[in-house]
Amino acid sequence: MTKRIQIFDTTLRDGEQTPGVSLNVQEKIEIAKQLELLGVDIIEAGFPRVSNGDYEAVKAIAKAVKKPIVAGLARANKGDIDRAWEALKYAERPRIHTFIATSDIHMEYKLNMKPDEVLKKAIDMVTYAKSLCNDIEFSPEDGSRTRPEFLYKVLEAVINAGATVVNIPDTVGYTTPGEFGVFIRGIKENVPNINKAVISVHCHNDLGLAVANSLAAIENGAEQIECAINGLGERAGNAALEEIAMVLKTRKDYFDYETSVVTERIHRVSSMVSSFAGINIQKNKAIVGANAFAHESGIHQHGVINNSKTYEIMTPESIGLKQNNMVLGKHSGRHAFQERLNELGYNLDKDKIDEAFKKFKELSDKKKEISDSDIEALVNQNVIQVDEKYNLENFQVTTGNNMVSTATVRIKKDDKVMQEAACGDGPINALFNVIERTIGVNIKLEDYALKAITSGKDALGEVTVKVDIDGNKFIGRGISLDVIEASVKAYMNAINKFANK
Ligand code: KIV
Ligand code: ZN
Repeated sequence: MTKRIQIFDTTLRDGEQTPGVSLNVQEKIEIAKQLELLGVDIIEAGFPRVSNGDYEAVKAIAKAVKKPIVAGLARANKGDIDRAWEALKYAERPRIHTFIATSDIHMEYKLNMKPDEVLKKAIDMVTYAKSLCNDIEFSPEDGSRTRPEFLYKVLEAVINAGATVVNIPDTVGYTTPGEFGVFIRGIKENVPNINKAVISVHCHNDLGLAVANSLAAIENGAEQIECAINGLGERAGNAALEEIAMVLKTRKDYFDYETSVVTERIHRVSSMVSSFAGINIQKNKAIVGANAFAHESGIHQHGVINNSKTYEIMTPESIGLKQNNMVLGKHSGRHAFQERLNELGYNLDKDKIDEAFKKFKELSDKKKEISDSDIEALVNQNVIQVDEKYNLENFQVTTGNNMVSTATVRIKKDDKVMQEAACGDGPINALFNVIERTIGVNIKLEDYALKAITSGKDALGEVTVKVDIDGNKFIGRGISLDVIEASVKAYMNAINKFANK
């Protein structure tokens, strides 16, 4: 019988630990709602003890999603577990995920604890967590580099203490498929009470093996895979959810496992996560890269035209890419627009639909055909956003070759109107300088990226900026047909996130 694999999504926890990524509560809620529609079994919503933002996000997600289990991470100490539970108790199906390192190197150099002390701590904290919540996941951090005999002992003890899931992390992305498969089988064969818990794996991608290692694990008894959209996560990231789901679907003949992922929603969630996290997807990324379904060579194109199966092992539609996208335009009415929003998975209230429709109409005056990607960008940018404490009323910039660019802006905050001028190396630099001067805070621009949402000369440009203000990182996004305007919007978006913090 086909075996069901649980998909544990950690985009909002490990994924948010991707260097440079910082999502606000509203963005996390929107991603969580999309993950629910995607059909994941568990959403790891955050690490409540690390910051108030994380705590608020976990609490809000616990209230917002109904179907998936909502998990929150906690180190093996009472403070972390209490804080996680405070946020998780609102969920229909809460899970506390607690961890402690078990490899010799981590115990000695990180925890400064002896193995017996770690074992006791794990038992005590799982027992404590179990007194609050029925569903407890335990992770022996750096599990794949832990001495197997010690690992078996820890796992047996935490299962006796009430752990419902034991998750084996390849924390540093060190293992290989053959080795990890044997390792998981060893757990299955040597932990006497293992049948009372679900075996899970959590693989990092430092050697590019996270997905392969996860697959090897399920072939050897793992029933839950931890993964993240677009493979986000610490360092080189986690196993990519979309790759796991599509391997199991495409190669069902070989693996005979199934997941509850609605793969037709993959593209949508992937774009949202990429946009909110400010991490562009490499073009040749499996499944969700822009080239994943593009056939360049004439021989391939010829084959695909005759029979798509010659070179296409899965269809673009299977991840939600529509081939003949019906485009909307100037004459499309509110009803058609709202229907398209629903099809795209947005469940917006009336005010937000009105706002989105207004922006859609403004865009359709300038752009003839508006695709799903344009609508997604527009909604992500204009509807899911922070209060505009600083309102950009207008800007002007003079630029050219062989001259210094000069910019002026008019920005309103409450009833106060501020106006300034500044120079810079190029129009965008001049505008960023004048905005910084007008607002009067030090802003360090750490990253700037521009991408076209669709192809063609009238493509919308999306700019993502990453800034540091007072030691805090903010990601701002802006879209416009004009890249200078998109840049200004992105910069103001980041500043408004700071102002709202
Ligand atoms: O990589 C890791 O070990 C983790 C654990 C907290 C599961 O993220
Ligand atoms: Zn991890």
